[in-house]
Order: sequence, then C-alpha cells, then structure tokens
Amino acid sequence: MDNSSASHVLFLLWFFAATFSCCKGNSNVSCNEKEKQALLIFKRGLTNSGNTLSSWSDQADCCRWEGVLCDNKTGRVRELHVGNLNLHGEISHFLLELEYLNYLDLSFSNFNCTRIPSFLGSMASLRHLALFGFCGLIPHQLGNLSSLHYLDVGYNSGLYVDSLHWMSSLSSMKHLDMSFVDLHAAPDWLQIMSRLPSLSELHMQNCQLDSLNPSLGFVNFTSLLVLDLSGNLFNHEIPNWLISNISLEILELVKNHLTGNIPESIGQLKHLKVLDLQINSFSGPIPSSLGNLSFMGELILNDNQLNGTFPKSLALLSNLNYLAIGDNFLAGSLDEVLFTKFSKLKVLDVSQTSLFFNVNSNWVPPFQLEFADMSFCKIGPSFPEWLKTQRSLKILLMSMSGILGKAPSWFWNWTSNVYTIDLSGNHIEGDVSDILLNSMILNLKSNHLKGQLPHLSANVKVLNIANNSFSGSISTFLCHEVNRRNKLEVLDASNNLLSGELSDCWRYWSSLIHLNLGSNNLSSRIPYSMESLVVLKALRLNNNSIFGDIPSSLQKCSNLTLIDIGENHFSMTIPLWIGKMPSLDILRLRSSGFKGHIPLQICQLSSLRILDLAENNLSGPIPKCLNLINAMAMRPNSANGYVRESFSNFSPYFDSLMLVPKGVVLEYEGNGNLGLVSIIDLSNNNLSGSIPIEISFLSELHLLNLSRNHLMGKIPEKIGTMKELESVDLSQNRLSGEIPPSMSNLTFLGYLDLSYNNFSGRIPSSTQL
Ligand SMILES: *[C@@H]1O[C@H](CO)[C@@H](O)[C@H](O)[C@H]1NC(C)=O
Ligand SMILES: *[C@@H]1O[C@H](CO)[C@@H](O)[C@H](O)[C@H]1NC(C)=O
Ligand SMILES: *[C@@H]1O[C@H](CO)[C@@H](O)[C@H](O)[C@H]1NC(C)=O
Ligand SMILES: *[C@@H]1O[C@H](CO)[C@@H](O)[C@H](O)[C@H]1NC(C)=O
Ligand SMILES: *[C@@H]1O[C@H](CO)[C@@H](O)[C@H](O)[C@H]1NC(C)=O
Ligand SMILES: *[C@@H]1O[C@H](CO)[C@@H](O)[C@H](O)[C@H]1NC(C)=O
Ligand SMILES: *[C@@H]1O[C@H](CO)[C@@H](O)[C@H](O)[C@H]1NC(C)=O
Ligand SMILES: *[C@@H]1O[C@H](CO)[C@@H](O)[C@H](O)[C@H]1NC(C)=O
Ligand SMILES: *[C@@H]1O[C@H](CO)[C@@H](O)[C@H](O)[C@H]1NC(C)=O
Ligand SMILES: *[C@@H]1O[C@H](CO)[C@@H](O)[C@H](O)[C@H]1NC(C)=O
Ligand SMILES: *[C@@H]1O[C@H](CO)[C@@H](O)[C@H](O)[C@H]1NC(C)=O
Ligand SMILES: *[C@@H]1O[C@H](CO)[C@@H](O)[C@H](O)[C@H]1NC(C)=O
Repeated sequence: MDNSSASHVLFLLWFFAATFSCCKGNSNVSCNEKEKQALLIFKRGLTNSGNTLSSWSDQADCCRWEGVLCDNKTGRVRELHVGNLNLHGEISHFLLELEYLNYLDLSFSNFNCTRIPSFLGSMASLRHLALFGFCGLIPHQLGNLSSLHYLDVGYNSGLYVDSLHWMSSLSSMKHLDMSFVDLHAAPDWLQIMSRLPSLSELHMQNCQLDSLNPSLGFVNFTSLLVLDLSGNLFNHEIPNWLISNISLEILELVKNHLTGNIPESIGQLKHLKVLDLQINSFSGPIPSSLGNLSFMGELILNDNQLNGTFPKSLALLSNLNYLAIGDNFLAGSLDEVLFTKFSKLKVLDVSQTSLFFNVNSNWVPPFQLEFADMSFCKIGPSFPEWLKTQRSLKILLMSMSGILGKAPSWFWNWTSNVYTIDLSGNHIEGDVSDILLNSMILNLKSNHLKGQLPHLSANVKVLNIANNSFSGSISTFLCHEVNRRNKLEVLDASNNLLSGELSDCWRYWSSLIHLNLGSNNLSSRIPYSMESLVVLKALRLNNNSIFGDIPSSLQKCSNLTLIDIGENHFSMTIPLWIGKMPSLDILRLRSSGFKGHIPLQICQLSSLRILDLAENNLSGPIPKCLNLINAMAMRPNSANGYVRESFSNFSPYFDSLMLVPKGVVLEYEGNGNLGLVSIIDLSNNNLSGSIPIEISFLSELHLLNLSRNHLMGKIPEKIGTMKELESVDLSQNRLSGEIPPSMSNLTFLGYLDLSYNNFSGRIPSSTQL
C-alpha cells in the first residue's frame, strides 16, 4: 500500500471514528474507534493472531482487549503488552495511529528476521520499546524517540549498527539492552553512552566490542547502576574511569580477555552488590579493599590467574551469598573465622585452587550452602565433617580433593537429599552394599569402595562407580527387588571385581542409555533379554570372560552407537545382522576370538568411524566395499559422529574407549578425541589377499593398521588421497612392489611402519617421511 492510499484509508477511519464513536454503556471510558481499527489492521498483519489475539474482536471495546491498556480519562491506547504472545508476521504501520502509545512490548515475538520498521521512530510518545525477532541494521530513525526511557533490542541474533550517533539524542534513556547486537562498527560507543545523562542500566553483552578505552581518564557515568559488558573482546587492564565516580551496583565483565591486577581502587565502588569478573586473565591478588564493599552479595572471580591468599578483610562481607574464586592460583588456608559473618552464603566455589579449609571437625558453619564446588583442592585427608550441618545442599562437587579413608556413618544417608554428588578420584573406602542411593547423579569413580553394589531408588539417573573394588555377583544387583523400580540412564561399573552372569533381569533396566561393565570378571553369555534396552546407545562389556553367541535380539537396540565387546571369548563369526544397526559409530571386537570372514555387511554401517577387529582369527580378504562407509569416506556432517552426551553440567558423563593408535594403548575420551578420530584396525588376524584399492577412498581415515596378517600384492597407488592419515602400519605381511610415490602427499603422517614385507625401491621423500 503506497502512502496516498494509506492516508486515504486513515481518513476514512478517522471519519468513521468521529461520526460513530460512542460510549459503550456501562463504562465511562471506551476506546477510540480510529485506534481500534488501526489495531485490527495490525492484528491482520500477524499470521498467528487468530489464537493469540482472540480477544481482539471488532465487537469488544479495544480497551478491554488482552494486552491493551488505555488512558482512563481519554480512552486513548497508551500501552501494548503483547510481548508474551509469540506474535509472527508483519508489523503494520497503522500502529502510527496510536498517537499516545508510550509502551510497546514485542519481546518473545518472531518477525522472521525482518528489519525493524523505521516508522517506529515516528512514534513520538514511546517511552518503552522492546523488540525481538528482527535482523539487519537498526534504523537511525529510532533516534527520534526522545522520550524513550527503555529500549531492549537485546538477544536478536542478526541485528547490527553502522554507528551509534543516532542514539545521542535519546536523552531520557535509562535502561538500554543491546546484547548480542553487533556493535563493532561503533568504536565510540562509550563516549555516546556516557552522554546519556539518565542512563542507569547498560547491557551490551556479546556485542563484539573490543575496547573499554582505558586511555580515557574520566567517563561521566554518574547515574549508572548496572553495567554488563560480558562476552566482548576486551584484552587490556580495567580502566580507571570504570572505578572512579560511578555508583555501580552491578558490574559484569564475564568472559573477556581482561588482564592485569584487579585494581585495589575497586573498593571505591561502595554500592557494588554484584562483581562478576569470571573467565578473564586477571592476575595478582584478590584486592583486600573488596572487604569495604558491605553490600556485596555476589563475588565471582573464578577462571582467572589470581594468586596469593584469600584476603582476611573479606570476612566482613556479611551480605555475601555467592562466592566463586575457583580455577585460580590462590593458596593458603580458609580459617573458620573467615566465615563467621557469611550466614547468607549459598554458593561456594573454591575448586582448582590450592586453598584448604582450616576448620575443626565439629565446626558448625553459619551458612546453609546449596552449591559447593571443592573439586581439585585440598579438602582431605579427613572427610569434611561440617558437611553434615548442610541441609540445603543440592550439588556437591568434591572430586580429586585428597580425601582418605571411610566416609563417616552419617554420610550416605545424608546424600539422599543432594541431587548431584561427585566424589571421584579420592581414596574413599567402605562397604556400601546395604546403602540405598537416592541422588540423581552420583560419581564415585576411582575410590576404594568395596562390597556388593549398592541399592538404587527411582531417582538415580547416573551412577558411575567405575574403578573401585566392588565385588559379588552382578545378577544380585540386576535382579534385586529394591532395584526394580530404577530409572537409571547411565551405569558405569567398569574396572571392578564383579562376577557372575548377566542374568535375565534387563527388563528392569530399560531406561539405560550408557552401560559399561567392562574390565570385571563377568563370566556369562550375552542374554537374549538385553533386547529390553531399547534406548541404549553405548554397550561396553569389554575385558571380561563373555562367551557364546551375540544374540540377534540386540538388533532391537537400534540406537546403539557404540559396541565394545572386545577382550572376551566369543569364538564365533561376526554376525551379519550387525550391518543393520543404523546408528553404529564405534565397533570394537578386538581380541575376542572372532573367526571366519569379515562380513560385507560391515560396509552398510554408513556412520561407522571406528572399526577395531584386531587380534582375532579372522581370515579371508579385506572387503572391497569399505569405501561405502560414508563416515570414513566423506567429511562427516554434524548429524553423525559420536553423540557426546553429558547428562549434566556438573559432573558430566562421557564414554571412553581404549584404542591402539600407534602401537601404544591409549584411552580416547568421549569429551575429547573419541568424537573426532576415525580408525580401521584389522591387525593380527589371518587376513589374506591384497589391500583393496577401494580403501584409498577413505579420505577421512586417521589411523590404518593392517599389520601382522598375510596380505600380498602392492600398496594401493592412490593411498596419497587418504589425506587425513596420521598413522599407517602395514608391517609383517607379504606386501611387495614399490612404495607408491603418492605417499609423499600424506602431510599429517607421523607414524609409518612397513617393516617385514618385501618392498623394493626407495621410500618416497617428503617432509613427513
Ligand atoms: C467516570 O467514572 C468515575 C467512577 O467510576 C466517576 O468518578 C467519574 O466522574 C466518571 N467520569 C465521567 C466523565 O463521567
Ligand atoms: C487512572 O490512572 C491513573 C494512573 O494510571 C491512576 O492513578 C488513577 O487512579 C486512575 N483513575 C481511575 C478513575 O481509575
Ligand atoms: C520467513 O522468511 C523466509 C525467507 O525470507 C520466507 O521464505 C518464509 O516464508 C518466511 N516465513 C514466514 C512465516 O513469513
Ligand atoms: C527522524 O530521524 C531521521 C534520521 O535520523 C531524520 O532524517 C528525520 O528527519 C527524523 N524525523 C523526525 C520526524 O524527527
Ligand atoms: C556529568 O553528567 C551530569 C549529568 O548529565 C552533569 O550534570 C555533570 O555536569 C557532568 N559532569 C561532568 C564533569 O561533565
Ligand atoms: C571523581 O572522583 C574523584 C575522586 O575519586 C574526584 O577527585 C573528582 O572530582 C571526581 N570527578 C567528578 C567529575 O565528579
Ligand atoms: C578500604 O579497604 C582498605 C584495605 O582493606 C583500607 O585500607 C581502607 O581504609 C578502606 N577504606 C574505607 C573507606 O573503608
Ligand atoms: C603472583 O604472580 C605474580 C606474577 O603474575 C608474581 O610476581 C607474584 O610474586 C605472585 N604472588 C604470589 C603471592 O605468589
Ligand atoms: C537415614 O535417614 C532417615 C530419614 O531420612 C532416617 O529415618 C534414618 O534413621 C537414617 N538412617 C541412619 C542410619 O542414620
Ligand atoms: C583408578 O583409580 C586409581 C586410584 O584409585 C587411579 O590411580 C587410576 O588412575 C584410576 N584409573 C582410571 C582408569 O581411572
Ligand atoms: C532413539 O533415539 C531417538 C532420539 O535420540 C529417539 O527419539 C528414539 O525414540 C530412540 N529409539 C528408541 C527405539 O527408543
Ligand atoms: C599429490 O597431490 C597433488 C594434488 O592433489 C597431485 O597433483 C599430485 O599428483 C600428487 N602427487 C602424487 C605423487 O601423487
């Protein structure tokens, strides 16, 4: 609609309004008809308005529509609160008809990444404007909104500015949120913001800003209370202007690259309640002047390079509820007296420091913590008895903290109200056979716990008790009546002394996603009933004494991405149905007595990245069809690849796998290289025939080990196209002929063993070989 026809319609609307607008009976203010018609046109521009704006009907008084607020004297629309209605579509410029509109909230909408309409700049009465779901350049016209107090364009992913000069005229601005707007084209942002005399809240998180202008001595931010500049690119010291003459209450500079000391002068920010400087490169001591900041509630300094001790002056901070100083080079003792005034403390993070608690065993702290992270610091050797007094704790992280000996008798019962517990990598002893565990996430890995496996309530989701000394029969645990209600998703009991059979109680464990019973003394068949594990993604039974068949019922576990049943005694052929596991990413059958040919069906596993069939009695040729394994032949798209699940931000669980990349056994971690590497290891079998030339199509393969077989013939000419190869071992075969010149193209090759073959000619030269 062009301008002239728009004004024509507007005239008609006005005429209609002026002529027929009349009172709605019982109320003495009713909406202005012209504004009502404008709102109805606005509604028509929205695609989902039928549901969300159902109260906006022509029959009803528009002052009674949802989200519409009228002036109670004049009946003119003053406020539109439609932010939570998830509007889609187009914003009609008929909104301009709402001459007295001072509040427009379009947050939580989705305008399909269109540009912010520039006509909004003509809505001269606007005081409050919140926009969401837009992209592109923020129109300069918004600079005409001289009454604007509140502007929120934050968290729009595709907005940017070419300058901020147009903002200088927004002299009433109090609250400005431009988080995630790309502001890199406005290096003078600071000067412009400081000219907004009433500005009290400034949020510019993740705006690609690269400097806080440390050379400016003074910036006139006298009204500023909240400053959030997290996630930018600052890589210098804290500038002086930030500290002097500002009455800040909240300062957030999280996740920049700020350096130098935290200045002692920070104690001048007397009103400070929240100081969040985590994830930067600050060094030197924690300034003792912080003890002057009596309003301080949240002091967050973790993930820096601070050193020295915890200043005694900070004991004065009686309002402190959040103290995070972990992941620094801090050292020294935390004495009881330090905590005397911390009665409000709820969050404590001292992890990855050399701080230690110097407290009596009968210490009753004044606080009730909800979160405690004391991982990788010196808590032990004795168990922290004071934890017993903590009745609100939800998350306790205390891995690798040097605790020795038996957990006190109250401990296991006490854990039942804690959701997440990580005590891994200590030296905790004891028999927990009769304990009923109730925490959602329990990581007790690498301790000295013994006895039968504990009992589980239906609340437990993750149980990691790997690398302890649990013994007894696994079937007692699997079939125990108490455990039948479990909803366990992760069970890692690997590296223990468990024995017995994988009995037929798997129907009680159908929530399992990751099962690891590797490196125990299990002596069992794989029961048919494991088909109950329909959501299982990772099955690890390696390094036991498992024998017999792999039941075809395992096909029902169609989400399996990782199968590791290596180091067992199967003495059978590789089942053909394995080719029908659609998600299989990792197959490890190493050293398990498999015989017969490698089935061609293996080539149907298009997601396969790790194939380890080494140290078996496999004979016959290497399948020519290996080039069909997409994950090895093509750059993997993000959809495939090993699922790196974590289950929790705190104490995440990842699968790991033992592989032999370059003649050495290495553990590959699910949160690291396991998700990145691609391997074929067929070494130490009786494979014969030649190396199929199709193998050179596997351009994403990192490690190839075909050593100790009876392979004959030449190395494929085009091996040089396998450009990701890091390690090649073809030793101890009967290969012959020349080493292909294309090998000199393998720029990542760091390990090559061609010994004990019958090659002729010279080794091609290259930087790597
Ligand atoms: C509107 O109604 C209020 C009470 O509801 C009354 O006090 C006021 O006088 C009325 N105004 C007009 C203009 O009728
Ligand atoms: C009209 O609104 C003002 C402020 O919005 C309020 O203070 C006043 O009480 C209201 N008057 C009536 C009659 O509702
Ligand atoms: C959103 O924009 C895209 C591309 O401009 C268009 O194809 C699509 O139809 C739009 N969707 C809606 C709901 O308007
Ligand atoms: C609004 O702003 C634009 C650009 O900043 C300017 O050209 C225009 O004259 C202004 N309009 C009004 C009505 O102030
Ligand atoms: C700082 O800004 C305030 C408010 O705009 C003003 O009154 C004051 O004069 C300014 N001070 C300086 C030194 O510019
Ligand atoms: C800023 O604070 C310093 C003291 O920290 C004072 O000397 C100076 O006058 C102040 N400047 C302004 C403009 O308020
Ligand atoms: C602030 O703290 C420092 C160091 O703790 C101290 O020397 C100074 O006197 C304190 N200043 C005020 C105003 O309390
Ligand atoms: C802290 O680190 C600095 C170097 O960044 C060093 O000069 C200083 O001696 C260290 N202080 C302590 C107490 O270790
Ligand atoms: C464990 O706690 C329950 C209540 O949560 C209590 O009834 C029971 O006596 C406690 N057991 C031990 C051994 O302390
Ligand atoms: C098992 O625990 C011991 C200490 O109990 C530790 O030294 C070892 O590294 C752990 N092994 C693994 C694989 O985590
Ligand atoms: C496999 O996983 C997907 C998503 O992770 C899930 O939607 C599906 O239900 C799972 N399959 C089975 C058989 O549970
Ligand atoms: C190495 O790679 C280049 C480019 O892919 C190719 O032109 C060249 O022939 C290769 N060299 C050998 C010896 O195969």
